[in-house]
This record gives sequence, structure tokens and C-alpha cells, in this order.
Amino acid sequence: MPALDESISHDTTSPPTTTHDGLMSDDASDGVSASDGLSSEKVKTFVFTSRRTAQDGTQSEESLEIRIPELLEASYSFYIWPCAPVLALFLWEHRDDLVGKHVLELGAGTSLPGILASKCGASVTLSDSANNTRALQHIRRCTELNGVQNQVRIIGITWGLFLNSLFTLGPLDLIIGSDCFYEPTVFEDIVVIVAFLLEKNPHARFLCTYQERSADWSIEHFLNKWGLTCTHVPLDDLGANSNVSVDELMQAHTIHLLDIRRR
Ligand SMILES: C[S@@+](CC[C@H](N)C(=O)[O-])C[C@H]1O[C@@H](n2cnc3c(N)ncnc32)[C@H](O)[C@@H]1O
Repeated sequence: MPALDESISHDTTSPPTTTHDGLMSDDASDGVSASDGLSSEKVKTFVFTSRRTAQDGTQSEESLEIRIPELLEASYSFYIWPCAPVLALFLWEHRDDLVGKHVLELGAGTSLPGILASKCGASVTLSDSANNTRALQHIRRCTELNGVQNQVRIIGITWGLFLNSLFTLGPLDLIIGSDCFYEPTVFEDIVVIVAFLLEKNPHARFLCTYQERSADWSIEHFLNKWGLTCTHVPLDDLGANSNVSVDELMQAHTIHLLDIRRR
């Protein structure tokens, strides 16, 4: 279960604010630096830990540190949105299921969940909009900072477009996405791509965190239209065996974990 050293409260309408929420074990020691001569970078360190009890009663602690650079500029791709640590925590708590699995992250941005999946033994492809070269470069930077640049593939996938990259993906076991449904005009574009990938990989599922921003927004109609179903994964127990409160993790937002599959 992670102790998160830093968390950020965002929504799509306001600039990011950094808050200390009691979950943090360590401040962002790297502070702010210029990584590309253009943007200031702030590295945030996430420490995921958990205790395991063996059959003979002996306890061992596992821990995983992931460092994510944020760029202090106005683009969705360069912040760690509140949905990301929630999805990453869920994956951490189910990390045994990730070993050897083929995982694709859509709209990866700073890629915390995908990098965690790679560190936990999955074969991971990270994607962001094919038009957004800087986002893809930033994903590269995130993988390098965590030493997984040679394990992880980075490709451009633009929601709603059937680009060549989609057809170069091998078999997938799991598709993940954190805060992809943040703008209603792209909801169907995402669902179309997910439906396509799940048709090719009928045993896979799309696990995504969704931040409620308006009670009027819904993806249900598009899921029905494209032959998908959705269940809400309960998050009540997330972090229960650690000092992590999922409410704190969500930073006063309402975040859902959706498990989307073929009907
Ligand atoms: C709200 S951010 C979430 C980023 C990251 N997953 C997180 O939770 O911190 C949305 C992400 O979707 C990407 N995105 C936006 N429109 C897209 C599109 N049409 N196709 C693919 N990715 C897109 C953005 O570049 C950005 O990385």
C-alpha cells in the first residue's frame, strides 16, 4: 500500500495546486529543475509498500518507489491527475495478477499506473495522442527516470482514430486508463478504440479510473452502443491494510474504478 509523498489536486478548469494530505512520506526531494530548457520539472516520489505474512507467520515488507516528473505548464499530459494514484494503488494491491501480462495504458500522460505495472512484471505499452509529440517525449522521460525505458514500449494512439499503431499491438490482457473520460466530446472516441481492442482481445478488460466532474456526464450510452458492459469495482477496501485512506487519495474528488468488458 503506498505512502504517497506528494499529491496534486486538479480539475479540468483550474490550475494545479500542490497539497500535503498526510499520506506523504517524503517531500519531492528533487524540487524544481529545468529538464528541457523550456519547462520546469518537479519530480514526485510515490512509495508503495505492503506487508506480507507467510504461512509460518513471518512477515516481510515489499516496497516500490516510482518517481514521476511533472512539468509546470498548462497541458493535461504533464500532471499526475488524482485518478492516477488511485489506479496505481489498485494495481499494486493486485500486482500478483500483473506478472507476465500484456498491458496497454491509454492516455497515459505521466504514466504512473503503467510504470507501476511494468515494475510489477507486466509487459507494458504506454500510449498518448499520436499528435502530441511532447506528451510522448514526456512519457519517455518518465520511463527513464524509473529505469524501465528498455522494457516499455511507447506509441501514439489517438482515440477515435484507427492509426497503424493500433494494428501493431500484440495480444493484450489488460487495458488501463486513468482520467481519460475527462471531456465528454471524446467519450465515444475512447469507447470506440476500447471496443475495437476488446474485440481483438475478448478476454481482456479495460480498467479505468473516472473522476466525476458533472452528474450529467455518462459513458453508459456509448458502452451500450459499442457492445460493452461496465461494473464498478468497490474501492472501500483500497488501502485498508495500510495507513492510506482512499478518501485522502482522492483529494475530495469522487473517483470510480470501472471494469469495462465486452457484453
Ligand atoms: C486528464 S489527462 C490524464 C493523464 C494521466 N492518465 C493521469 O491520470 O495523470 C488526459 C490524457 O489523455 C490524453 N489525451 C487527450 N486527448 C486524447 C486523444 N484524443 N487521444 C489520446 N490521448 C488523448 C492527454 O494527452 C492526457 O495525457
